[in-house]
This record gives sequence, C-alpha cells and structure tokens, in this order.
Amino acid sequence: MNVLGIETSCDETAAAVVSDGRLVRSSVVSSQIDLHARYGGVVPEIAGRAHVELLVPVVGEALAAAGTDRPDAVAATYGPGLIGSLLVGMSAAKALAMSWDVPFVGVNHLEGHLFAPVIEEPSLLWPLVVLLVSGGHTLLVLAKAPGRYRLLGQTLDDAAGEAFDKVARYLGLGYPGGPAIDRTAREGDPRAFSFPRALNDGSYDFSFSGLKTAVVRTAQRHPRAATCDLAASFQDAVVDVLVTKAARAVTDLGAKGLCLGGGVAANSLLRRRAPAAVDVPTYLPSMAMCTDNAAMIAAAGAWRLAHEGPSPLSLAADPNLFLTFDT
Ligand code: KG4
Ligand code: ZN
Repeated sequence: MNVLGIETSCDETAAAVVSDGRLVRSSVVSSQIDLHARYGGVVPEIAGRAHVELLVPVVGEALAAAGTDRPDAVAATYGPGLIGSLLVGMSAAKALAMSWDVPFVGVNHLEGHLFAPVIEEPSLLWPLVVLLVSGGHTLLVLAKAPGRYRLLGQTLDDAAGEAFDKVARYLGLGYPGGPAIDRTAREGDPRAFSFPRALNDGSYDFSFSGLKTAVVRTAQRHPRAATCDLAASFQDAVVDVLVTKAARAVTDLGAKGLCLGGGVAANSLLRRRAPAAVDVPTYLPSMAMCTDNAAMIAAAGAWRLAHEGPSPLSLAADPNLFLTFDT
C-alpha cells in the first residue's frame, strides 16, 4: 500500500511516497528558507504563496521518484501550523484523493514527528520517551505504542527552537537560528556564562523565555563578550534542561528507549548528550527526519488509515490542533 504524504504546515513544501507504513519510496522537501531569511523569520503570506507554486512540482517529483502515478491513499498535515500554508496542502491532497478515487487522511503534524523513529528504527522498543523539540513545540511524551501517547510535560512559554531562533537573531547570527547557534557554539566556551535552568523542580515542563532574556541582559552588560561564548553557554543551558528532564522521565517511567524528534533534534550537542544520559537505547533521527518532511506524515497517515479509517473530505485545517493524549 503506497501512501502519498503532503506536508505544508510551515515553510517546507514536502511530498513523499511511503509503502506499508514505513518504507520510504521517495521524499522530496523544498525549503523556503531563502525566501524568509531576509525577514528574519517565516512570513505567513510568503509561505502560503510559495506552497502554491511549489506543491505541484514537488508532488510530481515524489510520485515519479517512487515510480507510481496513482498511490493508494493521500495523507496531509491538517494542523498545527500556519493556516494559509495548511490550506494549500489540504486542498491539494483532497483534490488528488478525489481525482484518483482513493482515501484521504488528515495527519496531526506532531504525530508525524512521532512516526519518524517508526520509519527509521525497525527494532523500536516501547514504551518510549519522546522529546519533541521544534520551532513551534517542546513536548515530552510517553509513547506507549504507535498512536497511544501520554503528555508528560511541555513548554510554558517559548518553544526550544523559538528560543534558538530569537537568541540567534539578537546575536546577529541570522535565520534559522538553531543551526547558526550550533555552528557558532563550537568555537565558544559553554562555561563562560552561567545561564538559568528554569523549572529545575522535578516537573517535566520547560520554560525558555527567562533564559532568552538572560542572554540578552548578559550581552548588554558585557558588550565585549564573544558571541561564540554567549551562544555556547546558551546552548549548554537549553540542552542541559532538555536532557536532564528526558533522562529523568526514562528512569521514572521505566521506558525502554529515548527518542528525539523535531528540528532541534538536529542539534549536535543534544545528539551527543542525550545518549550519554540514559542507559536505554537512544534513537536519533537522521537530519532529514528531524526537520519537517512528508515521509513522516505518510507513515502516520498509513497508521491512522489502518486503525481509524479515512478522514471526511470536510475535515478542516486547524492551526491550533492539539495532539490527543491518553489519560
Ligand atoms: O521541526 P522543524 O523543522 O519545524 C517546526 O515544526 O517548527 O523545526 C525547526 C526549528 C527551528 O527553530 C530551528 O532553528 C531549529 O528547529 N533547529 C535547530 C537546529 N536545526 C534546526 N535548533 C538547534 N540546533 C540545530 N542544529
Ligand atoms: Zn515540525
């Protein structure tokens, strides 16, 4: 069974064909980073228009690379994300499903990220603690099995990636901020500044807005501070909190594995520290599977289709969609 996945929730226009829920036959991602970089962040109107221009060629390339001109189902992200961007992918997915006369299934973008390890790790052990850290979300989730999740904690203010992006912008490192801080921090001393570790209190929640303010204040107070030292100390504080809480969750809940997901999971320090902090296997998605892509949407869509059936064509895009958690 071939599922065509479509992902347009933010600034990546992506399409992929996945067989039997996990075999990636093709995955095409067209990033709009160059279009948004000069504005220092994603401009929703520009993103929506670019999706309109890019989606047809991207879908065409994904189908051609997979060697199919009629998949068995079409899955598309229906939230959370930018409404104008979500609507482009949803409308295209529904139109294609109708014209091919195959089922359409709406996928929660966050559940898509949770399916990245399902694609890449054939021997996953459940339950898993998943640290999902992206530009829009910071969630610590207990994944008991595919489709069965318990929310352990989340950010109370900025998402981890948002903190990277905002601090990078302040330090003049450009957009997107995460990779820029990651690169710059390599030259810096992570012990140069001692930044706060918020909510160091036994909870699984996160808070990054105070940390961001602390970096700005420190930079103002020490105008000659090296940018690389500020970046390294900031990154150390973020990664320290993420890894400490994720590792504690693994121990407290007896998880059989730890999994990272979302764009911030591409961070080199996080990828080094997380496996060292736990004594269970750590699943580090490939770079392509950390950031937004449509293969994870197709995989999550295949699972939803098999377990819950297709979505109605009346399904609306929902920019504030939540993930449904077990109690
Ligand atoms: O998952 P994603 O591609 O899109 C969202 O759904 O948000 O994540 C993008 C986020 C951005 O905030 C970006 O700065 C961050 O992931 N990011 C990183 C790294 N690469 C991307 N953050 C830290 N270190 C990186 N190497
Ligand atoms: Zn994402």
